[in-house]
Amino acid sequence: MNLKDYIRDIPDFPQPGILFRDITPLLKSPEAFNYAIEQMSQKCQNLQVDAIVAVESRGFIFGAPLACQMGKPFIPVRKEGKLPGETVSVAYTLEYGSNVMEMHLADVNEGDRVLIVDDVLATGGTLLATTELVEKAGGQVAGIGLLIELEGLGGRNVLGHYDIFSLIQY
Ligand code: PRP
Ligand code: MG
Repeated sequence: MNLKDYIRDIPDFPQPGILFRDITPLLKSPEAFNYAIEQMSQKCQNLQVDAIVAVESRGFIFGAPLACQMGKPFIPVRKEGKLPGETVSVAYTLEYGSNVMEMHLADVNEGDRVLIVDDVLATGGTLLATTELVEKAGGQVAGIGLLIELEGLGGRNVLGHYDIFSLIQY
């Protein structure tokens, strides 16, 4: 199966000049969605993963089924103010302005090997901030798993020393 067949290109979204890679056709196909989760699971077989961390919102779409499939805990990273327990937090910069995200401190055990999952790697800002959260909570980043990697935007350089895999590259 070629997963790229299930990604739709939308020119000039959300702003002029941006080519948006829309994952909704993949989500609408149970075969393609299931295949993507299977592929992610296979790619991290050798990473000795203890838990899956994923980033609100689109990271949840892939992180949660992957955690179920692998039989590992799922740990959500959420936007500021959404998690009720004691959290670790990190501020990160977006193209316009900045944002804060949080994770429950107690969700990661000291030394846990964590796989971070998201739908897309673009500039790497979101995932770099997520690695900081995991490390602040005492975990180790075992790897980073993505559906899509936008290679032209340099995300891999920002995340230099981590083990990164993606199922689709542009
Ligand atoms: C998108 C995407 C990644 C991030 C990648 O999330 O889902 O999480 O951007 O960009 P970066 O590598 O430049 O940080 P977005 O913040 O648009 O929010 P969403 O997941 O809630 O749609
Ligand atoms: Mg996102």
